[in-house]
Amino acid sequence: MQTIRGFRDILPEHIALWQKVEKVAIDLFEAFGFKEIRIPVLEKTQLFARSIGEATDIVEKEMYTFADRKGDKLTLRPEATASIVRSYIQHKMYATDPVRKFFMTGPMFRRERPQKGRYRQFYQIDAEVFGVESGFIDSQLIYLLNELFKRLGLTGLSAHINSLGCPKCRPSFQKALLEFLELKKDKLCDNCLRRIDKNPLRILDCKGQDCHAAIKDAPATLDYLCNDCSEHFDLVKTTLEEQGVDFIVDKTLVRGLDYYTRTAWEILTDSLGAQSAVAGGGRYDGLVKELGGPDTPAIGFAIGFDRLVEVMEQISQNPSDSGLDLFIISIGDIAMKKGYLWSCELNQAGISTEIDYRGKSLKALMKRANKFNARYVLIVGETEINQNAAVLRNMNTKDQDSIDIDTLIPELIKIFK
Ligand code: HAM
Repeated sequence: MQTIRGFRDILPEHIALWQKVEKVAIDLFEAFGFKEIRIPVLEKTQLFARSIGEATDIVEKEMYTFADRKGDKLTLRPEATASIVRSYIQHKMYATDPVRKFFMTGPMFRRERPQKGRYRQFYQIDAEVFGVESGFIDSQLIYLLNELFKRLGLTGLSAHINSLGCPKCRPSFQKALLEFLELKKDKLCDNCLRRIDKNPLRILDCKGQDCHAAIKDAPATLDYLCNDCSEHFDLVKTTLEEQGVDFIVDKTLVRGLDYYTRTAWEILTDSLGAQSAVAGGGRYDGLVKELGGPDTPAIGFAIGFDRLVEVMEQISQNPSDSGLDLFIISIGDIAMKKGYLWSCELNQAGISTEIDYRGKSLKALMKRANKFNARYVLIVGETEINQNAAVLRNMNTKDQDSIDIDTLIPELIKIFK
């Protein structure tokens, strides 16, 4: 049996880096006032179709959707934003305090063509802020991402930002875009032609080479912003500049999900080939209302956890296994029983302890202790049992001491605490 294409195991030898990233991220999010939220992996299909947009790649061809036994259409979440918005509305969180900050980490599912940095089950670290319209939050989220990547020792990343406007300025942009696309119709792929009426903004995100060339000089949202959106974007940019966060204004950045308004951004790396975005986010001021909640501005981002770890693996060693406190070598039945009881007691006291029950030789067990990178080895055989004293060997200094079996546990706890 093998994993499904695009799905993979993250093996223990790779986990240290995942844990490090998660710890650094959670510490930072909590310092910035974010609270963890946990949401289901399965939701009604309608939630994603309405939020992400019917005419997006994700909804049209990438979702894992199936009918459950009652015939309800369900989808494995392709992202977290829609579910967090649903949760915000479902639990009427806005009623007690409309301003909320959430983060979550977990698996997402998209049936894309698998390649390096692109999986069908992948992980995101997601953060969302509800109830704040001010551009300070936009800059704060980009600042936060920048700080996270700095703490993880990552360099060579660049933040690309754009403003996608709002329902007030969209129509004039859309009109200009449609006029432009009308002239390029013969160069667009079938998918884009189909989307012209449904969702022309999506054409700007087409990855096809011919479309890409055809839309090179297409109108950009940035040139059609209303005054409010312009001022909002200016505040975001000047704040980031003041805070010393580098960014590139990228008029062509449109993001692959429909819910975005105003500021949108992606953090790109040059070290993962085609899959260059390690994080993406933006405002979605209309989504809470669209899904049945009160008119509430909102903004957030998601980091591609798998990609982030891959970038880190290129620049740093996987943090080495910190090793075991104690390896117990028990020779003979009586010693084995004692060793078993001690190991449980020590584990329970928070001291990492291993013992091997296979009755191997002292030499083989010393080798095994080394494999575990054990700081100490406790040796107990028939002689030691008879003398009521076990031998404790410091694997660093090679010093050996004899420890009275009756006071062994408190003695060891003293050493390790
Ligand atoms: P997204 O750009 O679709 O945005 O995904 C965010 C990040 O997830 C990407 O930049 C990428 O690093 C990672 N990612 C996406 N698809 C894959 C894949 N197949 N394999 C590996 N990594 C992948 C969102 O999902 C939005 N919900 C972000 C957001 C939150 N916007 C507002 N709030």
